[in-house]
Amino acid sequence: MDNPKSILITGASSGIGEALALEYAAPGVTLFLSGRDAERTTSVSEACRQKGATVAGKVIDVSNREAMDAWIRECHTELPLDLVIANAGIGLGFHKDVDLAKHTADIFDINVNGVFHTAHPALELMRRQGHGQIAIMASLAAYHGMPSSPAYSTSKACVKAYGEALRGAYWSDGIKVNVICPGFVASRITRRNKFPMPFFMDADRAARIIQKGLRKNKGRISFPWQVRLMYGGAIRLLPEFVLERFLRALPDKT
Ligand SMILES: NC(=O)c1ccc[n+]([C@@H]2O[C@H](COP(=O)([O-])OP(=O)(O)OC[C@H]3O[C@@H](n4cnc5c(N)ncnc54)[C@H](OP(=O)(O)O)[C@@H]3O)[C@@H](O)[C@H]2O)c1
Repeated sequence: MDNPKSILITGASSGIGEALALEYAAPGVTLFLSGRDAERTTSVSEACRQKGATVAGKVIDVSNREAMDAWIRECHTELPLDLVIANAGIGLGFHKDVDLAKHTADIFDINVNGVFHTAHPALELMRRQGHGQIAIMASLAAYHGMPSSPAYSTSKACVKAYGEALRGAYWSDGIKVNVICPGFVASRITRRNKFPMPFFMDADRAARIIQKGLRKNKGRISFPWQVRLMYGGAIRLLPEFVLERFLRALPDKT
């Protein structure tokens, strides 16, 4: 979409979501921003107001389906939504001694159910209005199950596949669906990483790439291109046993 005027972003209180909110903030634009942390959500909302946008910040947990449904309908009633970005997510460290059931449920509640709770009401409302755009935050880690982050990479593979499927399913309803697959971007998630992160980029740059991709309605916005090529190429071209060795050699995320 060229110039969305009514934009909802989950997880806008920090990192990539914050950078996206600031990138879209401008006079004539209304932003509905969410986060869990009240202080961070208020501070990002204020920064976006300084850039001329009308902003409504909301403290809300994406894993709460009823609350998300009510909030998204409220926002749409205030100003019909042009663009919804289901960005909120977590990246818990993984080691083999974690409580696997809890670890996996915690990640899926936010990274998968949180995306469903954002996309589903938006799809219904946009279908009725006959247009709209929904962007789903996946990751380059979605391209193959990662031994270093089994639950995280699987959660991202799930929403990547879901977004790709929705794109085809809702095309004829005038709804654009896009999947975003970043590599390593500066945020509270990557701040904890102790290993080298190839082609690490700041969140502002990531936000500009995402905004451009959404404007062009690219089905999959994967970046940086170097990592996409390296990683995508390895998955497609390497024999399975070499690929497995390559993935096993990647640093773990304890
Ligand atoms: N950074 C990377 O390298 C990278 C790469 C690929 C994909 N991603 C994805 O990008 C998205 C944004 O992450 P980030 O890297 O920008 O990390 P971040 O700085 O930690 O930001 C995460 C955002 O999600 C919000 N959030 C987390 N759990 C939530 C919940 N249950 N309900 C509502 N909001 C919640 C956080 O809110 P609070 O501040 O209030 O906690 C925060 O605004 C995630 O989906 C992540 O998986 C990141």
